Amino acid sequence: MSQQRPPIGVIGTGYVGLVTAAGFAELGSDVVCVDIDADKIERLRRGEIPIYEPGLEELVARNRERLTFTTRLEDALERARLLFVAVGTPPTYSGDADLSAVHQVVAAMPPSDRHALVMKSTVPVGTGASIKRIFAEQGKDGFSYVSCPEFLKEGSAVKDFLHPDRVVVGDDGDWAGDAVVELYAPLDAPLVRTDISSAEMVKLASNAFLATKISFINEIANVCEETGADVMEVARGMGLDDRIGPKFLQAGIGFGGSCFPKDVSALKQLAGNSGYHFQLLNAVIEVNELQKRRVVAKLQKHLGSLVGKRIALLGLAFKPETDDMREASSLVLSARLQADGAHVVAYDPIAEEQARRLLPGVELAPGALDAVQDADAVVLVTEWQEFKELDWREVASAMRGTLVIDGRNALDAHAILAAGLSYEGVGRGTVASLATP
Ligand code: UGA
Repeated sequence: MSQQRPPIGVIGTGYVGLVTAAGFAELGSDVVCVDIDADKIERLRRGEIPIYEPGLEELVARNRERLTFTTRLEDALERARLLFVAVGTPPTYSGDADLSAVHQVVAAMPPSDRHALVMKSTVPVGTGASIKRIFAEQGKDGFSYVSCPEFLKEGSAVKDFLHPDRVVVGDDGDWAGDAVVELYAPLDAPLVRTDISSAEMVKLASNAFLATKISFINEIANVCEETGADVMEVARGMGLDDRIGPKFLQAGIGFGGSCFPKDVSALKQLAGNSGYHFQLLNAVIEVNELQKRRVVAKLQKHLGSLVGKRIALLGLAFKPETDDMREASSLVLSARLQADGAHVVAYDPIAEEQARRLLPGVELAPGALDAVQDADAVVLVTEWQEFKELDWREVASAMRGTLVIDGRNALDAHAILAAGLSYEGVGRGTVASLATP
């Protein structure tokens, strides 16, 4: 453990809150974690981690003495000056972000000139300004405010916290901004110190740009399917251009998760609310929705009617290394397949508990080989490592049909073909054109 650093409070113990808390504890701060969910706090006190996030359990355990879990906001206010806010901001029906949890936190703050809220939750541009207005109206002008957006990815959140590409701090140039900068100093990351609105926009624009990159490569993939090119080769060729870069050019069956879909629509909405029609983002959203459904057409092309067909889905989480199924492609896909009369059987190494809740009517198998048993077709939905290591001969002898659809272009097409199965990826042209490994 490192040297003692200033104590902080973290409000909200979801992915962002818990990783932020454990990360700052690792850097040497005592951290008071506050959540209104008493059950969750009890579990955390017992050392249980309510989410699956690689490395988080170890990080929490290693810094156990520096972490306090409580439902009482006063505990954090007593011990810390900086209060990081990491509560949920889910989308509303209109596509705007629901800020009710953020506003509850704001309302609960007492008048103070020695505390600051440090916003980690993803909020619309202008939220900081409106919170400062609320503070002023309530006679809490002394309360400082800092925007410090989070860029961690689920599945690699601990690594992302400890090795960030950049730290963005938006503030009014008072003590609180300096204190946040100081807190992050040991990470030695490039710092963007700016005004509050610009910091808020960096977060939304970054997520929207990455989502745009994915929808772009997915459209290129769809054109590749028409023209016989292989999108994997295309992405490799494009990605070597420094200005483009290789990351987030992985074509597939659409992006999901708690961030991209929500933030793209929140930015579109935010622009619309201020009178600007953000055309590009409309396309990004629409392409993504259609991309999730294209698998159904591919299955129909090979199998004809899907009525009574047994379709095995490998993976359900929105990406590997997480149990999170929010906005996962598996949700749309299984609903579409069931609506077309297919029997859907699925397996995910971690997301089974979520799936039981979210996918009624889908048969959940205890393992990949159980899922593919008697299947007419297999669809890779989430590229977990264990699916890349499957023995395709075993899969072939378990299946009734022969079709494998690789929704993430993550499988070894040659091994699949060698096992006597047929292979279709996303944007990979005809099987004959697949580049030799
Ligand atoms: C995303 C951002 O990457 C983080 O920087 C950000 O902090 C986070 O949202 C957030 O706002 O909290 P995350 O949602 O955890 O992180 O997941 P990503 O790894 O970005 O993947 C999102 C989705 O895009 C997944 O469904 C993934 O399968 C898909 N994806 C990603 C592709 O289809 N192709 C790619 O090339 C990359």
